[in-house]
Amino acid sequence: MSRLSLVVLFGTFLTSLWTTAHGFYVDNGNPYDEGDLQVLTLSISQNDAPMLTKVYYPTRIDTYAVFFFTGGYQGDIPSELYSDVLVRVASHGFVVIGVDYMPMVTVQANVRDRTQRLGADHTQKYFEELQWVTKHLEGRIAKQLNRTGLVPDFNHLAIGCHSAGCDPLVKMTLQNHTFSKAALLLEPFSFNYATPVTFKMPAFILGTELSTQPHACVRPGQGYNHFYNMRNCPRMLMEVKGHGHCDIYNETWYKACQLTHFCKTNPDVDINKYHNFIQGISAAFLTTTLQGRDKLQYINNTTALPVELLEFKIDMDC
Ligand SMILES: *[C@@H]1O[C@H](CO)[C@@H](O)[C@H](O)[C@H]1NC(C)=O
Ligand SMILES: *[C@@H]1O[C@H](CO)[C@@H](O)[C@H](O)[C@H]1NC(C)=O
Ligand SMILES: *[C@@H]1O[C@H](CO)[C@@H](O)[C@H](O)[C@H]1NC(C)=O
Ligand SMILES: *[C@@H]1O[C@H](CO)[C@@H](O)[C@H](O)[C@H]1NC(C)=O
Ligand SMILES: *[C@@H]1O[C@H](CO)[C@@H](O)[C@H](O)[C@H]1NC(C)=O
Repeated sequence: MSRLSLVVLFGTFLTSLWTTAHGFYVDNGNPYDEGDLQVLTLSISQNDAPMLTKVYYPTRIDTYAVFFFTGGYQGDIPSELYSDVLVRVASHGFVVIGVDYMPMVTVQANVRDRTQRLGADHTQKYFEELQWVTKHLEGRIAKQLNRTGLVPDFNHLAIGCHSAGCDPLVKMTLQNHTFSKAALLLEPFSFNYATPVTFKMPAFILGTELSTQPHACVRPGQGYNHFYNMRNCPRMLMEVKGHGHCDIYNETWYKACQLTHFCKTNPDVDINKYHNFIQGISAAFLTTTLQGRDKLQYINNTTALPVELLEFKIDMDC
């Protein structure tokens, strides 16, 4: 731990930033343990919704905060690759909406298409998708469950993303400051993100040591430190030691990443333990910002984390 660099800024803590919520599910457990709720998956095709949609939601009838997530390559990496982590987050009482562009079988066939899309602005597409789920998701869930009453509460929504998926989602929040209450940016990356956030939207930003080492999947000046610098408080950043950009994927995909050397990996990684860590920081941050229960101690007590950090910054000075 001697290399851990710490920046801690505490000012007049604006408690009003954390939502006070009534009438919906609040998680009482330890964020690093799997949540109490059973989770079901709902798939919505791209013929139906503007984007491919995988929803991971608790089966218990209740009202839940919403986590709107997209994966790497501006949504080209299917959200199923993150399902292990997303299901764990949903088990803490969130309707998790994973969106992406195409079914996995066509990922390779669409390389040309993808290259064209990488430079483009996808913000509008994501807004259309968000409007669609806001209108239709409750009904789709009722249809799958054969009963009504499970409500995704879109007034308590956070955006979440991995890698270049953070590009369109952060740009959405620059266009509309209010639809999302918090931002969970997991190893964010953008080719051209340059607009500072001037409004107060709590952000948790994760980085990994290996992601910027060859074969690098994040360019150092355009990754997590850049996103942290562009944000207003409240903001937090963790850089995890000995982990890489693919460790967040389901185990099969992590192994594929390792075999192909797509991004640098560490052969000794315990994926289950790492996913527990991602679940813990995600559930702690989202429970605090969306469910109104302060679980910041699970983030700021770095000695209790199941991983080692190289860097931890927390700025509540606002
Ligand atoms: C990982 O994702 C695949 C789909 O790509 C899914 O079939 C599998 O069950 C997932 N594994 C875990 C552990 O969630
Ligand atoms: C809902 O009803 C359909 C058709 O009767 C059935 O196939 C399905 O398993 C039911 N779903 C649940 C969650 O009970
Ligand atoms: C921003 O989003 C909120 C919540 O979805 C919506 O009510 C509002 O109309 C949007 N504002 C603009 C300018 O689109
Ligand atoms: C950690 O978070 C807890 C809960 O919000 C807070 O009471 C405490 O002051 C924080 N401590 C540090 C060192 O950040
Ligand atoms: C931080 O975590 C350690 C290890 O779990 C624990 O012993 C300690 O009491 C915690 N500190 C605070 C301030 O909660």
